[in-house]
Amino acid sequence: MTERHWRIVNPGGSRRVVVTKELPGLRWLQLLTAADCRVEIAQGDDILGQAEIVTALGAQADAALGQLTEDWSAKTLGALSDAGALIYSQYAVGYDNVDVAAATRLHLPVGNTPGVLTETTAEMAVALTFAAARRIAEGDRMMRAGAYHGWLPGMLLGTLLRRGTLGIVGAGRIGAAYAHMMVEGHKMDLVYYDVRPNEELEHSIADYAAFLASHGERPVTCRRAKTLTELLRACDVVSVHAALSAETRHLIGAPELAVMKAEAVLVNASRGPLVDEAALVGHCRTHPRFRAGLDVYESEPATAPGLAELDTVVLVPHLGSATTFTREGMATLAAANVVGILNDWPVWRAVGGLEDVRPFLEDEEPPHAAPSIVNADVLGLPRLAVQDPDTEDQQ
Ligand code: DGY
Repeated sequence: MTERHWRIVNPGGSRRVVVTKELPGLRWLQLLTAADCRVEIAQGDDILGQAEIVTALGAQADAALGQLTEDWSAKTLGALSDAGALIYSQYAVGYDNVDVAAATRLHLPVGNTPGVLTETTAEMAVALTFAAARRIAEGDRMMRAGAYHGWLPGMLLGTLLRRGTLGIVGAGRIGAAYAHMMVEGHKMDLVYYDVRPNEELEHSIADYAAFLASHGERPVTCRRAKTLTELLRACDVVSVHAALSAETRHLIGAPELAVMKAEAVLVNASRGPLVDEAALVGHCRTHPRFRAGLDVYESEPATAPGLAELDTVVLVPHLGSATTFTREGMATLAAANVVGILNDWPVWRAVGGLEDVRPFLEDEEPPHAAPSIVNADVLGLPRLAVQDPDTEDQQ
């Protein structure tokens, strides 16, 4: 292996921050250098292995800013803690690659980047839904192959989604944003499955239904399914938005696919292992009218044998959050988490469990807080009080 090149920014900084990939935008680096950090950034597109990360952390590091593609298990986090670091900050909202329990045992805060990729990822799920339902990728391939010889009545017929039934598995931030886009844009009835009811979603869909009724249109409906099977049986489109854990791995496998409608559309822009990819390949082979749109895969960057040969499946390479606005915002939040913890600032307030991170992205002088620390409460880190004018005045 050739030796990796590291770009060093602000070499004289008194705090050493190890960053495992170049990140988009400039603000994240401005935040770190303004906090007197020496920033060491790994160069290259290949994914750093655990041994290389541990070597890079070395004997002394104040913080690490890492990627969802890396192994931040107990051993890596232990090396970070041994180096004296005060935080691991993940450049992603999802953190299934991070052993948060181990970090907590080491008293190490784990940062992530919620709030800035909600709509962006939901838009990708919408794009995949329509690409699969309306056979966009097949049409594109046909054009490029010179195989389009003129309009035909029965060519590449897809599925009309307007007024159909939409299912979301996981009604958190991204699932709810996707549901709004699909229900309000295409007047679909909504069924959702989640361990917790999402009352805000239910109320806003009820408001939309009332709006439709007041305009003489048939209202849409919204209900929480009691079981996943109930949702799968009922829906024309099923989009998966759950977090990955031992319990949700292969949430959609052969038995679940078997109860779905023969011409349903399955979308996954959350985490690959939620869907049993081999089972999906088998199902698509035997159900030629079934379609899927995938942004994420079980063993990225690989795909299950046979998946890429299926015309009925649209595949994109984990692009859910890939807009300039979002990727730059994620970098800002990940850096702000490091700055907040290194400066001993409180953790940003969460209202109803959700952080509104806009002030970190929009304000000239960001709040004196760490925007999102996933183990803040269990570590007993202080939070900026909600609507505390005295504290806000000090910012
Ligand atoms: C995340 O942040 O978890 C996303 O998967 C990145 O696109």
